[in-house]
Amino acid sequence: MSGTFFDAVKSRRTIYQLSDESVIPDSKIKEIVEQAVLHVPSSFNSQSTRVLVLLGAEHKKLWNEIVKPAVKAVAPAEAWPSSEQRLNGFAGGYGTVLFYEDPADVHALQQKFALYADKFPQWSEHTNAMHQYAIWTALEAEGFGANLQHYNPLIDEKIAATWNIPQVWSLKGQLVFGKPAGKAGEKTFKPLEERLFVHGAKN
Ligand SMILES: Cc1cc2nc3c(=O)[nH]c(=O)nc-3n(C[C@H](O)[C@H](O)[C@H](O)COP(=O)(O)O)c2cc1C
Repeated sequence: MSGTFFDAVKSRRTIYQLSDESVIPDSKIKEIVEQAVLHVPSSFNSQSTRVLVLLGAEHKKLWNEIVKPAVKAVAPAEAWPSSEQRLNGFAGGYGTVLFYEDPADVHALQQKFALYADKFPQWSEHTNAMHQYAIWTALEAEGFGANLQHYNPLIDEKIAATWNIPQVWSLKGQLVFGKPAGKAGEKTFKPLEERLFVHGAKN
C-alpha cells in the first residue's frame, strides 16, 4: 500500500495534550477546511454540512465562556473539578472546528425523494462524519494534534447567538486542535479476522 493518503489515515490519532500554538498559517487552516467542504461527498450531493472554525481568542471564548458554564450548570458538584480540568485542556488548544447539518437540505431531499425519506436523516449523519474525519486527518497530517468532542446540544444556543449561526442548524461534533504537547494513548486492535471478510480475491 503506497502513498501519502494511508500515511495520513494511519497517523491520525486522538491527542488530548495540546498547546495554543499553531503549526501552519491560519490561511492554510482555512484552505484545508474549504477543500474538505468542497470535496467531501454528501448523500445525493446534498451538501448539508456546515462548518464553523474558531481560532485563537474565539476558540478560548468557546471553551471558557460557553462550554464551561454550560457543563458546570448540569454537572454534579463533585464531578466538576475533573470536568473543569478536561475543559481546560480543550481551551488550551489553538482552534475548534464545529460541524453542523442544515436540516433544510435534509428536508428538501425528503420531499424530492419520498422513497428514501426515512433514510436521509441517517445519511446526513454519515455525511457530517465524513467531513469530521477528513478535516481531523488533514489537520493532523499538517502536524496538529486533535480530538473530537460532543458537548452539543448543551452549547448550541449560546454558540448560535455568539457567532450568528442559524438556530436550526444541528451541531454534531467539535474537533479541538493545537500543537501536540503529548502523545496519543496506546491503542489496541481487535483481530482483523473478526472485522474484515474478503471473498473472490484473485491474487
Ligand atoms: C464517532 C466518534 C465519536 C467520538 N467521540 C468522542 C468524544 O466525545 N470524546 C472523546 O474524547 N473522544 C471521542 N472520540 C475519539 C475516540 O475515542 C477515538 O477515536 C478512539 O478511541 C480511537 O483512538 P484514536 O482516535 O487515537 O485512533 C470519538 C470518535 C469517533 C469516531
